[in-house]
Formats: sequence, C-alpha cells, structure tokens
Amino acid sequence: MTSRTTRTQVVIVGAGPAGLLLGELLRKVGIDAVILEQRSADYVLGRIRAGVLEQGTVQVLEHAGVAARLHAEGLTHEGVEIGFHGHRHRIALRELIGKTVTVYGQTEMTRDLMEARNASGAHSIYEAEDVTLHDWRGTTPRVTYRHLGVTHEISCDFIAGCDGFHGVCRRSIPADQMQTFERIYPFGWLGVLSDVPPPWKELIYANSARGFALASMRSPTRVRCYVQCGLDERVEDWSDARFWDEFRLRMGEEIADRTMPAPSIEKSIAPLRSFVVEPLRFGRLFLAGDAAHIVPPTGAKGLNLAVSDVFYLHEALRDYYREQRDEPLDRYTSRCLRRVWKAERFSWWMTRLLHLFPGDAFSRRIQQTELEYLFDSRFAQSSMAENYVGLPLDYEAHEARAHVA
Ligand code: FAD
Ligand code: DHB
Repeated sequence: MTSRTTRTQVVIVGAGPAGLLLGELLRKVGIDAVILEQRSADYVLGRIRAGVLEQGTVQVLEHAGVAARLHAEGLTHEGVEIGFHGHRHRIALRELIGKTVTVYGQTEMTRDLMEARNASGAHSIYEAEDVTLHDWRGTTPRVTYRHLGVTHEISCDFIAGCDGFHGVCRRSIPADQMQTFERIYPFGWLGVLSDVPPPWKELIYANSARGFALASMRSPTRVRCYVQCGLDERVEDWSDARFWDEFRLRMGEEIADRTMPAPSIEKSIAPLRSFVVEPLRFGRLFLAGDAAHIVPPTGAKGLNLAVSDVFYLHEALRDYYREQRDEPLDRYTSRCLRRVWKAERFSWWMTRLLHLFPGDAFSRRIQQTELEYLFDSRFAQSSMAENYVGLPLDYEAHEARAHVA
C-alpha cells in the first residue's frame, strides 16, 4: 500500500559523503532535496574508510559551511614519504607545488555533514528499503521505497545516484546504454585502526619485498595502517600481533622500532579495483561518487572524486533552475570525467609503483627503476605531488596549456 506521495526537486539516493554533501550544496542554493539511505545513520558512521583530503575538497567543504571542525582538528601535511629497500624518500608537497593535504577521516566529515543536515531540518530517511527508480528517462521521475513497512513515493525533477558501487541507481540503467571500464587487482588491503599516537609525522607508503604497507593516521592519538594481502585472506586469520609483525617487517627497521603493536579497534579487508562508467547522465538520473567510478585506494582519491562530482552536479542543477536550460546538465558528464580519468590514471600508477605483483623479473626491475627515477628527479616528484594534492576542480587541459604557452 502507498501511504503518501510527496514531492521534492531532487531525490538523492545514498547518505555517504557524496549524497550528504550534495544535499548541503543544494540547500545553499535554495534547491530542495530528500536523501534516501538504506542503512542506519550509526551504520554509516561506523564505516572506516578514507583519510586524506585534497585542498580542493577542503575548499568545497568550506563553501558548504561544514569545515569548522575540520579546520580545528584536521592535520595539515606538507609532505608524504615513500619507503623502498629500507630507506624513506620524502615528496615535499608544499615545497614542490605550494600545496598541502589534510588528514581528516571520512567518518568525521560524514558526521559534520549529518549534523549540518539535522540542524537545518532537511529531510533524510535512513533505513529506506527497496529504493526503486521510475521514469528517469522522462520529465517526471519518481522514486519509491519502503520505510517501517509502509511504501512511499516521491515525485521529483531529478534523481542523484550517490549510492556507491553496489547501489541501485547504476543497476537501474540497461547495460547497453552505458560503457564500463574495469581493472581488478590481484590483492587487497588489510586495514587496522588503533588508539595509539602515530610514531610517524607524515604518511609512509612502503614498497617492500613482502608487499605494500601504508602508515597513516586519523588524529594525534589514532593510527590507521594497511598491509597488502591476498584476495582469499580473511580478517579472522589476522590477529593484531600478526598484523603488526607483518607491518613492521614491511616498514623497515627504524619505523618498526617505533611502532607500538596496539590493539585494533577496527580491522577490515578491501579489494582493489579501478572502474568507470560512461556517461554519468541518463535522462534525469545522474551518477556521482563511487556509484560512477572506483579507484584503488593507493592515491587517496576516492573520497575526493566524490566531492568534485557533487560540486559539479550542484552547479549544473543550480544553473538549470536559474536559467531553465539543459546545457549545464549536458556538461556534467564531460566535466566530471576529465577529472575522474586523471585520478584513475594516478591511482593506477601509484598502485603499480608500490605493490608486489605476481609477475616476471622484468616488471619488478621496471618498478624499481620507476621508483629510482622518482627519487632522483624533481620533475617526477612535482608530477606526483601535483596529482597527490589533487588537480584543480576546474582543471581544463587546454586552458592550462594555453597558460604555460
Ligand atoms: P559511499 O560512501 O559508498 O556511500 C554510498 C551510500 O549509499 C552508502 O551509505 C550506502 O549504504 C548507500 N546505498 C547503497 N545502496 C543503496 C540503496 N539501494 N538505497 C539507498 N542507499 C543505498 N578511499 C580512499 O581515498 N582511501 C581509503 O582508504 C579508502 N578505503 C575504502 C575502503 C572501503 C571498504 C571502501 C568500500 C571504500 C574505500 N575508499 C577509500 C573509497 C571512499 O571511501 C569512497 O570513494 C567514498 O566513500 C565514496 O563516497 P560515496 O558517497 O560516493 O559512496
Ligand atoms: C589512507 C588511505 C589511503 O588510501 C591513502 O592513500 C592514504 C591514507 C587512510 O585511511 O588514512
């Protein structure tokens, strides 16, 4: 039974960072939106994911009015280290290209967005089941869902698919109307969160003969660390002691000596994947964030891409309502994809550079040579730094070339 039909301008499916931020950005420009999320708010806040924000992402969060705690608690990092053969080489981000990154957990950013939305009284429905999209090809789309056993329907002008890689929005589009690009890597990342002060000042990405490891952090009292693991491995098989032993072996002696094998408060395995769907607009349905593309986590780009997508989407919707023209909406796909593919390339490059791949001696030598080239060349370091801190949101390749000329 349908209990009630309501109306809004935009239905946003998914209350991850993409959906919540889009809701805030739209509210700022006077566009009404309802967010439908299949999980509970606590579940969404319990997921431990990304931790590094690009400067452009921080600017978008400022623009959305949700950066106060980020500025108070986020950690500014002016460099990042690459470990190889027991030595560490620093990529001096600020010195090389005048920019920094901010360490601030996705969980904290999500909490800030949820609080801003609650404070504004904007409408979010958590634990919405069976979210189904209708008529998104035409001009009067609808979304139905079940909540507390009752079926609801919302009619709207647009649907924003911010429901992640496994969501319903991309799956609603017939396969012959889109093109997908995919690469699956033959390993995953095992991540551990621990309440212990980080014994490193900046992030360390380590390429070791035993596989990749990453030393990261969430705050001055909390570390986040990862080791490359097999796709068939199970979290239950990794005791805390086993994790820290492996992490220390991969990080080299100096970091190993300083690392406290603290108890984990979260431990999970994530597979690594590159994925892009094209286009991102299907009539009145727009895909954004992980619903549209996935990067392997090595470049710390996933969350940042979700932010740039919804920034572009809110601008397109704002201009559509102001000017009653379709063109801003038409440009959404190309604006996003220019940035998405550059982040895909960088994440693939960093993944290839730092992980242990099943492969021949030639591939291993090429990897070693690429690392040595990076350590020796200020140009190579600048290129890495430029991508790591994030390409400008409005990066237009031809404009940049014209500027250089
Ligand atoms: P999501 O955060 O996935 O949010 C989508 C939301 O939609 C979820 O809340 C989901 O419950 C909801 N949803 C799904 N289906 C439906 C439905 N049918 N109806 C209603 N709601 C639905 N990036 C990094 O940069 N570094 C990392 O270390 C890192 N680690 C990660 C680890 C894991 C396990 C995963 C999955 C991702 C990781 N990422 C990482 C990527 C980063 O977290 C994502 O890019 C980011 O969360 C994308 O945000 P999003 O809002 O697009 O998608
Ligand atoms: C973290 C995750 C990443 O994928 C990355 O490249 C850097 C940091 C983190 O979880 O802290």
